[in-house]
Amino acid sequence: MVSLRFLLCFLCVSSVYATIVSHDGRAITIDGHRRVLLSGSIHYPRSTPEMWPDLIKKGKEGGLDAIETYVFWNAHEPTRRQYDFSGKLDLIRFLKTIQDEGLYAVLRIGPYACAEWNYGGFPVWLHNMPGMVFRTTNKAYMDEMQNFTTMIVDMVKKEKLFASQGGPIILAQIENEYGNVMGPYGESGKAYIKWCANMAQSLDVGVPWIMCQQNDAPQPMLNTCNGFYCDNFVPNNPNTPKMWTENWTGWFKQWGGKNPHRTTEDVAFSVARFFQRGGTFNNYYMYHGGTNFDRTAGGPYITTSYDYDAPLDEYGNLSQPKYGHLKQLHDVLHSIEKTLTYGNISTIDFGNSASATIYKTEEGSSCFFGNGNENSDATISFQGESYVVPAWSVTILPDCKNEAYNTAKITTQTSMMVKKPNEAEDTPSTLKWSWRPENMDNFLLKGKGESTQTQLFDQKVVTNDQSDYLWYMTTVKFKKRDPFVGKTMSLRINSTAHVLYVFVNGNIIGYQHAENGKFNYVFEKDVKFKSGRNVIALLSITVGLANYGAFFESKPAGITGPIFITGINGDETIVKDLSAHKWSYKTGLNGFDNQLFRTEAMSKWSVENVPFNRTMTWYKATFKSPLGNDPVVVDLMGLGKGTAWVNGNNIGRYWPSFISSENGCDAKCNYRGAYHAEKCLTNCGEPTQRWYMYHVPRSFLNAEGDNTLVLFEEMGGNPSLVSFQTTRVGSVCANVYEKTIIELSCDRKPISAIKFASFGNPDGNCGSFEKGTCESSKNTADILTQECVGKEKCSIDVSTEKFGAPDCSGAPRRLAVEAIC
Ligand code: GAL
Repeated sequence: MVSLRFLLCFLCVSSVYATIVSHDGRAITIDGHRRVLLSGSIHYPRSTPEMWPDLIKKGKEGGLDAIETYVFWNAHEPTRRQYDFSGKLDLIRFLKTIQDEGLYAVLRIGPYACAEWNYGGFPVWLHNMPGMVFRTTNKAYMDEMQNFTTMIVDMVKKEKLFASQGGPIILAQIENEYGNVMGPYGESGKAYIKWCANMAQSLDVGVPWIMCQQNDAPQPMLNTCNGFYCDNFVPNNPNTPKMWTENWTGWFKQWGGKNPHRTTEDVAFSVARFFQRGGTFNNYYMYHGGTNFDRTAGGPYITTSYDYDAPLDEYGNLSQPKYGHLKQLHDVLHSIEKTLTYGNISTIDFGNSASATIYKTEEGSSCFFGNGNENSDATISFQGESYVVPAWSVTILPDCKNEAYNTAKITTQTSMMVKKPNEAEDTPSTLKWSWRPENMDNFLLKGKGESTQTQLFDQKVVTNDQSDYLWYMTTVKFKKRDPFVGKTMSLRINSTAHVLYVFVNGNIIGYQHAENGKFNYVFEKDVKFKSGRNVIALLSITVGLANYGAFFESKPAGITGPIFITGINGDETIVKDLSAHKWSYKTGLNGFDNQLFRTEAMSKWSVENVPFNRTMTWYKATFKSPLGNDPVVVDLMGLGKGTAWVNGNNIGRYWPSFISSENGCDAKCNYRGAYHAEKCLTNCGEPTQRWYMYHVPRSFLNAEGDNTLVLFEEMGGNPSLVSFQTTRVGSVCANVYEKTIIELSCDRKPISAIKFASFGNPDGNCGSFEKGTCESSKNTADILTQECVGKEKCSIDVSTEKFGAPDCSGAPRRLAVEAIC
């Protein structure tokens, strides 16, 4: 009886609160209704809890239904069975913030993430367990994966966050793109993926599970697509809807690389085409990329910035026009949700890559006119009307008559961001520095570490990834009369150290890192040894552990050798293989052990003779927090490579001295034609991280009083140029045809002036507009000044009634405007 009452009560509670998420071959269904779902990736540890509400709200205002995130195993379980869910890692708080905003959540537990995240999200202790192989039928691996996955599911269930419990999570993911790498795993790979499916299913989350890029995903797993385009994707089961879990809005950056840009027109085109061809779920990877704080960047060589050219920039600002143009697309797609998900689909092929797709229900029809031709516009005749569809674009006509949206016609403003100096400082550009050297005596002169081995070990094995730094030290002895004493010899090191510093008898003899796109190299330098004991000290530094590929966990990091010294004296050649010498190891640096980055660290810092270009040097300065609410960045121009902290918070690795090569940036970026990561690059010949800027979230700062910046500079640099700044919209532009309505907005600040305005056929781009050959005789700038200046936003009806009707030889007239914020 008791149990029946309990059951009845349980049913009544769950039926009141639960959301039933299911699917058929057409779409994800929520409470029985097929849905068009637009989702965006925001990874919680790549911003701060203080930023989450605003980011998620902007997602909602941008027309998203859901926020997607991975779960980052190595962040949560840095040491086996010791968990961290605090601060930026508060997954539950993140999910509740999504819920509070009324959005759905997509939880990609993985626990393999990839994501350009350190080691793809796997803890290094896992790698160091005996007999371990990741992502295959390895008992130790499967036990740990199950343990972590179960723990996350239980945590989330306890907070009732699955939709089946009334929470926001509508989908969960197990594994990640395993299909892309599974070949080398052979039969074990196939068995593993079945095990993953069963394991996930047994966790009983009450919402569908997805497996992306997994053509053999066992039922009931939903296999989904990732890529720049997914319109050709066909799910592996007629009962699986066509879903796109990663629509890459841009791309990531590597140190020494360039800045990738995926045009707004092309992202919109890819989405519209996907929906034209029957897709019903699209997730932007990334919607907000954010920052790889601390040592979370993957690798090797992924930058601290994970901006991704996403609709929300690294700092959380709207990246316009991407954000706004996609918002308009989302509004149109939502407005025809019923037709898209229930309508009968028919297509007309016009040849030359032009097509029409008609979704028809009893209530009405909606149409997509697509033109996949990258060179020529298409003229489509449909039901007695003629429509021009520009090259590489899709037009959406919600009623099959009137064009509501075209992916190539942007009617959203372009925002140009500017940096403002820190007005809270009297002399904003000069910080007062103190410094101290990194104490390396024990290592450089004594070669004395914490443990010794007669073998060269992979760095991960020794450090457990507790630090980027690992000393490898050995001694080489020469007798007094040895003919090689004082002679030039060669030291040759086969290295997979992401960065390697080589010291002999206390003196640095060189440093090296892999060339772009590679990760092994040979270090070779002349060196002279003295009689007696010589200390060779090698400092190996990781810059993010590999995160992608079959068996990526065993990609070497550090100095795995061999290491030789060779010398030629007359007829005599000696080759000494040092690989099996006695090597002494020490993880980490002294300054890190002594936490010099902590504000309260009571160490001796000197304000005298602050050195420039000195390797292995600590710098410290105090500064005032910039006024206002605009995002804060620190310009680390002049520095070499190292790590920066603000008030003890690690803001990430910096490396402004790594300049990208000169070639590969085209002056013009054509949105037409398939995008790839090498297209539309900028920043050639410049430091990789845009504007040298590193994000300092407001929550890291004391609004009143002093703040402390600490730098550990490895290579040697000049800190005198370092400055704090804020970033905000500096000017906004539009370049639109007549008969459109365009909104100009300075992001909650008043528009202060109209810098350029012309109605006719103006030329150029935002920041460099010029008058064309035809122009209205009315004073366009005056009209816009009256409508916009002093206001936070203004809406302009671009019409000949307002701006006059210049004769542009029959060509459609355009308004170009640049307004200063
Ligand atoms: C995908 C992966 C993502 C991310 C992306 C590139 O293959 O699933 O996690 O790494 O590539 O940014």
